[in-house]
Amino acid sequence: MKHFAGHFLLSAFLLFSSNVVAVENINIIPKPLSVAVQEGAFALSAKTSINLLSADAKLKLSVDFFNDLLKKTFSKGLKVGESKNLKSNAINVNVNSLLGDEEYTLAVDNKQITIEGGSPKAVFYAFQTLRQLLPVSIEKGAKMKLISIPAVVIKDKPDFAYRGGMLDVCRHFFTVAEVKKYIDILSLHKMNTFHWHLTDDQGWRIEIKKYPKLTEVGSIRNQTKVGNYSDEKAGYDNTPYGGFYTQKQIKEIVKYASDKFITIIPEIEMPGHGVAALTSYPYLGCVGKNYKLRETWGVSEEVYCPGKETTFQFIEDVLTEVMNLFPSEYIHIGGDECPKGEWEKCPLCQKRIKDEGLKNELELQSYLVLRVEKFVNSKGRKIIGWDEILEGGLSKTATVMSWRGSKGGIEAAKRGNHVIMAPNTYCYLDYYQTGDLKNEPLGIGGNLPIEKVYELNPYQDLNAEECKYIVGVQGNLWTEYIATFDHAEYMILPRLAAISEVGWALNRKDYPDFWQRMQSMMRRYDALGYRSAKHMLKNKPKVVCTPAQNSMPIDNL
Ligand code: ACM
Ligand code: ZN
Repeated sequence: MKHFAGHFLLSAFLLFSSNVVAVENINIIPKPLSVAVQEGAFALSAKTSINLLSADAKLKLSVDFFNDLLKKTFSKGLKVGESKNLKSNAINVNVNSLLGDEEYTLAVDNKQITIEGGSPKAVFYAFQTLRQLLPVSIEKGAKMKLISIPAVVIKDKPDFAYRGGMLDVCRHFFTVAEVKKYIDILSLHKMNTFHWHLTDDQGWRIEIKKYPKLTEVGSIRNQTKVGNYSDEKAGYDNTPYGGFYTQKQIKEIVKYASDKFITIIPEIEMPGHGVAALTSYPYLGCVGKNYKLRETWGVSEEVYCPGKETTFQFIEDVLTEVMNLFPSEYIHIGGDECPKGEWEKCPLCQKRIKDEGLKNELELQSYLVLRVEKFVNSKGRKIIGWDEILEGGLSKTATVMSWRGSKGGIEAAKRGNHVIMAPNTYCYLDYYQTGDLKNEPLGIGGNLPIEKVYELNPYQDLNAEECKYIVGVQGNLWTEYIATFDHAEYMILPRLAAISEVGWALNRKDYPDFWQRMQSMMRRYDALGYRSAKHMLKNKPKVVCTPAQNSMPIDNL
């Protein structure tokens, strides 16, 4: 038996008949904890069965996922049975609670495949790994009779509990089918959280029964800025733009994600980025009139008025409906980019500052965040906010999402708050992927090649005690300049793969090794019909084999 921490390069298994399709190599993304290649191969066919050794109802989700994958290739899914005994020519699936919640072992030998996971979710990850041991053509339903899977023992678990991807559906709207596709992409990379940015200045995208104008009025802007934000000559498109999700659709998407073991965290922005809400219900703002959904990008001076009790009533009502729709432990309440100019002039905001003994408008923002947090906590949930929520004082129980670099996250971890690292310097997938813009679609700016994304170290500048507060990482896709899902795919793929590896395999990161494994993943994206950016393929690292792989005896493969 040979022991390798990563992939190996050469084709390990020969085609022994035209109907047998062999896997070229073992190239798993994100990188497993260990990959021990063994002699032989398992022949997967329509006659292989799935044998459930545990009776957990949620295992059906993993089985359905894998059978859906195989159905087009074999013309049917594998037969599923339950037996306490290991079966041959079968994928034996067991839940072993001694393993961690996301920890699994996948063992393939000549006779059988055995999956053992700490939970149905871990079993799902094992099936995602098994998927990556199948030829990429399976993704488009290529007909095969027999698939040769290399004998291997893979042990695996993630480094971080939170591995997320955010999608902004406000600046541009994406359909239910497209949102599901985004969830599929997260799932392929063993990400476990979908952060859904649902409200902003340019559109309110979630139906709230108690406040129908939020979608009747707040989901449609009159027109949209053309070209770059700062290009005044480019003007506006003079075309109304809108869209929202009904509560029925939201429930459908929550279930779809949950079936793939992905939690959706909804984001309802406050007290800034609220112009769509203020346009729908002007009493929510300090000025109280003349609002219009924002038709360009950037930050608005128009924000919610925390001087009024009716603002809090609105927020609590909205969050109540949101919490009824989303079972997530966390609710994201935004908190970023809230200019304080209107609060300085508003008599009600100034009265609130005086009555509550607050020092200034920063503390007024904290007053709002703490009050909303208390409400969310009273419903058994917790809040996440962007790193601005640190500015006027913060409770110990709020989680900080660091976006203005890692500074806010570092400060929060030092204070003992939980942190999700999503620094724009590494995780903003709306930034350009190259400095050479000739062939790039118009973007917001920046230059964030995948090599840089991969360099993210969420623990940077923290001691061992402080590191405990870093719960994970997230890639963010803001969509000011991303009007189609095809463009969204281009921006997240392949950079989301780098984020997934930071979140799953921080302690065994190795860019040349990642680059090599990504060759397969890039072909898988193509087979799935996902558009991906190809820059990384051209930027081959100077060293592509680690010493272990270089020293592998070729004739033993
Ligand atoms: C942000 O990018 N404004 C969180
Ligand atoms: Zn006010």
